[in-house]
Order: sequence, then C-alpha cells, then structure tokens
Amino acid sequence: MDESFVKREQSRLLAELNEFLAIPSVSALPAHAADCRRAAEWLGAHLRKLGCPVVEIVEGQGHPVVWAESPKLPGKPTLLIYGHYDVQPPDPLDEWTSGPFSPTVRDGKLYARGAADDKGQVFCLLKAYESVLDAGGQPPLNVHFIFEGEEECGGRVIFDLLHEEPERTRAEAALVCDMSYYAPGWPAVYTALRGLCYAEISVRTLERDLHSGTYGGVAPNAIEALIRILSKLKTEAGEIQVPRLYQSVEPPTQRELDTWKQLPFDQERFLADEVTGKALTGLTDRSIYERVWALPTFEIHGIRGGFVGDGAKTVIPAQATAKVSLRLVPGQGFEEVGMSLQKAVAALAPVWADVEVTLLHGGNPVQIDVDQPAFEILNQVFESVEGRRAVQVRAGGSIPIVPELGLAGAPVILTGIGLPDDGLHSPNEKLDLRQLWSGIEIFGRFFELFAEKGGGEKKEVYSSSGVIRLTGPE
Ligand code: BES
Ligand code: MN
Repeated sequence: MDESFVKREQSRLLAELNEFLAIPSVSALPAHAADCRRAAEWLGAHLRKLGCPVVEIVEGQGHPVVWAESPKLPGKPTLLIYGHYDVQPPDPLDEWTSGPFSPTVRDGKLYARGAADDKGQVFCLLKAYESVLDAGGQPPLNVHFIFEGEEECGGRVIFDLLHEEPERTRAEAALVCDMSYYAPGWPAVYTALRGLCYAEISVRTLERDLHSGTYGGVAPNAIEALIRILSKLKTEAGEIQVPRLYQSVEPPTQRELDTWKQLPFDQERFLADEVTGKALTGLTDRSIYERVWALPTFEIHGIRGGFVGDGAKTVIPAQATAKVSLRLVPGQGFEEVGMSLQKAVAALAPVWADVEVTLLHGGNPVQIDVDQPAFEILNQVFESVEGRRAVQVRAGGSIPIVPELGLAGAPVILTGIGLPDDGLHSPNEKLDLRQLWSGIEIFGRFFELFAEKGGGEKKEVYSSSGVIRLTGPE
C-alpha cells in the first residue's frame, strides 16, 4: 500500500467520516427510520464511488441492508466484510460535551455516537479498501460488503436475507470489525461472543390504580409483585435461578484460561476507572474474565410502573413492567433460555398476579477457532504495524448475526480498532484517530496479503452453538 494515502488524504477522510457520523441512525427509535435509510444510502453511494458494480439496498421489515460487490476477479479469494450503520440512542444528552451527532475532535479523539460502534470501524474498512485501489488502481481480491441497520435493536432484515440467500455468505473469510484492542498497542481477535436473550416481564394485579389509603393493606401491588419475582431470579451471591442454565455452559478451554491468566490486568484500576463502582459483584469464586466472557448473566435494564413524576401520589399500581436480559455463552441457545425464563417466572408469580414474559429479541453465542490461515495473515499484519500479534480474548457483548456469517464455512474474524475506553453505548463515545489511521493501514495490508494467500486450503472448523434460529417476537 502507498503509505502516504492516510497522510495525504487525512482531512478529506475526516470530513467524510464526520458526514457519516452526523446522520442520527438510531435504529431503536421509530422517529429515526428516515435517518437510518439516509445512512444506508450514504454507504451505497460510497460503495459505488469505490467502483463496486453491484450495490443493493435490500429492503425488509425494518431498516435496509446494504450489499455491494467489488468487480469480479475469477481465481481470487473473496472476503465478506460485515458491519452495522445503526447506533444506540444517545441519551442522556446532557452528559455529552459536544452533541452526539456533531462529531468533534478533542485531543486526537473523535467524539460522536457511532464513532467506534460501529460507523467509524465500517468507515475504516471502506478507506482501507480505497487505499489499496489508490495504490494499485485495481482491486486485488473480491470483496462482498454487507452492512445492516438493526444490529443494536434486534431486527430481522439481515437474518431474513441470509436465510433466503445463504450463498451470500460464501467467502474464504468473513471480517467483522466491531470490537476493540485489548489495550492500546494490543490488537485482539475474539474466540467467542456472548449471545443475548432480551425480554419484558409484565405484571398486572388490578384493573386500575387504587387509593393506597382506602385499599392499602389488602390490594395487591403490581410493582411489589414484580420486584419479588425479579429478586428471586438471582441470588445475592450472583447465581441466576433459571433452571438448568449453568448445566449447558461449555467451559472455556484450558488454552483460553491460560491465555487470560497471562493478560495484564489491574483489578483496582478496572473497578475504579471502568466499572466506577465500590465493589465488583457476581460469582466471586470465578475470575473476572470468566464472569464477563464465559458465564451467563441476568440484568434488569429498567422498570416502568406506578407514579414516577415529581412530588407524591398515593397510589397502588395496577401494572408494572421490567426489561431484562440474559447474556448467554457457548452451549446455550437464546430461544431455549427464553422458555426457561418464562417457566422460572411463572413458577415465581403469586396466584393473584397475571404475569407475562415477552421475548423482545435475541442472538446466539458463538465460538470461533482462530487456528486458521486467515488469522495468521492478520497476525502478520498486526505484527508489522503494531509490533505485536493479536491476543486471543472473548467478548462479553453480542452481535446476533455472527453465527450466520459462518454458515457457508468461512472463518469469521472478529476484531476491531476500538479501545476499551471508547464508551460504547455511553455518553461521549469516541474513536481515537490514531486507531483509525493505523487501522486503515492494517486492513489495507490485510486485503493485499489476503488476496495473495487467502485462497488457500482452509479447515472447516468454524462452529456455532446456535442450533436454534432467530424467529423473534410475533
Ligand atoms: N459492538 C457491540 C458488540 C460488542 C460489545 C463487542 C463489546 C465487543 C465488546 C455491538 O454493536 C453491540 O453493542 N451489540 C449489542 C447487541 C444486542 C443489542 C443484541 C449488545 O451486545 O448489547
Ligand atoms: Mn457494534
């Protein structure tokens, strides 16, 4: 690659990225549907400018998928590039130093919603591809781009597309750049992603809210019923009380456990700077990495019900709802776990409460064998640019479509250019611009090396624990 591409084009690249980040493509909020489409079209137009003869905006029930193919080169390997153009809601707005959709550089970091998750990383791959064209004029390999707009909200458009046309996943490798380095200077590839089972638990105890003086002492309170159920779903020691949940956990391999033990880790700094709490909770007999990477979780995200306005209102609430989720690990399927959650909640519900569990969305966990040639190619590039091969870690987070990307046998490379303190889903999300510039160089070199060596024999060892397909809520 022409090493001066980034230096020469830096200000144009930054202006382009700012334009992309300024589109508020918040997939979860219906008011932003048109913005999601604008982001999809922005990508489509960009891919056309990069010389892709095939660019499709694939419609479905939700935000569109962007699909593009580089000019066909028979005999050259195909790389499938996945990313997402949607972002999380930016609230709480008053905690942002500059607006979430007014990208701003401070101290070498670009602040905006989506800067790291995942628009900035999608942009990095587009520019890496452009840098290769810039140097040679011709693309050296086949690239298929697939970008979705519903990763953050549990949509189905990309699932429907890949179920109807699984041949779209046919490639020598799939590259997912939606993750981060282990630490500055420490690139990472991921051996597993957790899955997710997201649900709403609704409780109704009365036809209508009642006066708490007239009826207090006899009338069943919906919030009380809800919190009694919730508090029994996890013990104080951190054990989740969903039957058979831990039996299905596939323990990490000895190699993974050995690797994790050797990672530099400062628990006090982790608690103070990242977690920002007074103590760590959960299963204290397990290591931190086992708890955030290799064990299921149960979290309560929000509770709605009763009176939450200013001042006081003496009322017995008739209805209450909690949003909850379980993170899942290899061995567990989200639909199965959803049914177990339903049963567990039904068993805990008092007879005088109507309790309903609605599955909102989910994704299966995935495990990836990183002993494949494509990973060796990436490691050579990391070594030449960062002076270090990738460390093999796991991710606590989820990317629901990842198990499907490997359906046609392509090894799925989970990696990224983020840093652990990027603040994904938080106010003041950022991307360190040094990571972007070096990322363009890294993936540009990766494309060139993969074009030469990536078509070689590959082992079919990609495995997904996902025996259960996403059907989503009715
Ligand atoms: N990029 C993240 C996934 C991630 C998080 C990878 C942390 C590595 C470390 C992704 O965009 C994300 O946030 N996914 C959601 C998916 C969910 C809404 C189905 C998540 O994990 O909460
Ligand atoms: Mn993401």
